Amino acid sequence: MKKQILDLTVRAVERLSEKHVLIRLTDEQPLPEMVPGQFVEVRVDGSTSTFLRRPISINMVNREKNELWLMVAMVGDGTRKLGQLQPGDKLNCLLPLGNGFTLQDGRTALNTESADLTKHSSPLLVGGGVGVAPLLYLGAEMKRMGMEPTFLLGGRTKNDLLELDLFNRYGRVCVTTEDGSMGEKGFVTNHSVLGESFDMICTCGPTPMMKAVARYAKQRGIYCEVSLENMMACGLGACLCCVEKTVDGNLCVCKDGPVFPISKLTWE
Ligand SMILES: Cc1cc2nc3c(=O)[nH]c(=O)nc-3n(C[C@H](O)[C@H](O)[C@H](O)COP(=O)(O)OP(=O)(O)OC[C@H]3O[C@@H](n4cnc5c(N)ncnc54)[C@H](O)[C@@H]3O)c2cc1C
Ligand code: FES
Repeated sequence: MKKQILDLTVRAVERLSEKHVLIRLTDEQPLPEMVPGQFVEVRVDGSTSTFLRRPISINMVNREKNELWLMVAMVGDGTRKLGQLQPGDKLNCLLPLGNGFTLQDGRTALNTESADLTKHSSPLLVGGGVGVAPLLYLGAEMKRMGMEPTFLLGGRTKNDLLELDLFNRYGRVCVTTEDGSMGEKGFVTNHSVLGESFDMICTCGPTPMMKAVARYAKQRGIYCEVSLENMMACGLGACLCCVEKTVDGNLCVCKDGPVFPISKLTWE
């Protein structure tokens, strides 16, 4: 997929919680092809401290409305600036970047075990915090292809559980919160739905959560892909600041990932 630099137009900025916004972007031209799991490097204009672009996952692509959605957690100067965007503003985006989860035509070059996730009928998509962002588009695409995803989403409190109404459109939604304010109390890896049988798992979120999900999948022999969120700068495989040790040597998460089958990682 050809990478492009586009000045996209902000159509709306919606507050999802105290710390999170949903930015809906559009363009006069049809948006480029993008697959779930890929990301965008956004340029943060008007900041005296944010020099590098910031990587943000593709949350949803709405072809009918020609919209690209980005869910942003405002954690520092750059993302806070993104949260201040107004309808009509331009956002300079480098996209689409990375490989994405493996869907039917084996777009993930690294994935040799299962080039077709649609062969799996009962996928489990596990997300924590803002790591849920790429799972919405993934679940929507799976549903479009006739699969029935189950989402398992976790947060510290109910305020961290975002877009639940949208996730509900594409599959069954199970939630956990650490304080018990919504769903089952605890971590996603304690949820009772894990007693059911799934034939593949995709996960994105904090690294300890993804490692626990990967352990669960490995113990049960379930095929699993994880989307890593290593620190990034160029997003293009040039600066090497995002490398991850894998069974094939050090790979760039921005170019060779961010999605990896767990068998490629050197995680315990
Ligand atoms: C592939 C990928 C997809 C991501 N998707 C999303 C998403 O959909 N929504 C979202 O809100 N966030 C996402 N992130 C994380 C997001 O890029 C960082 O939160 C953001 O860059 C922080 O910028 P800042 O200027 O606000 O914070 P800073 O003030 O620079 O730092 C605040 C914290 O953010 C983290 N961080 C800073 N710079 C980076 C960087 N370049 N790469 C990764 N982490 C960084 C650090 O842990 C730091 O402690 C993603 C990261 C990656 C690598
Ligand atoms: S961010 Fe520069 S090589 Fe990955």
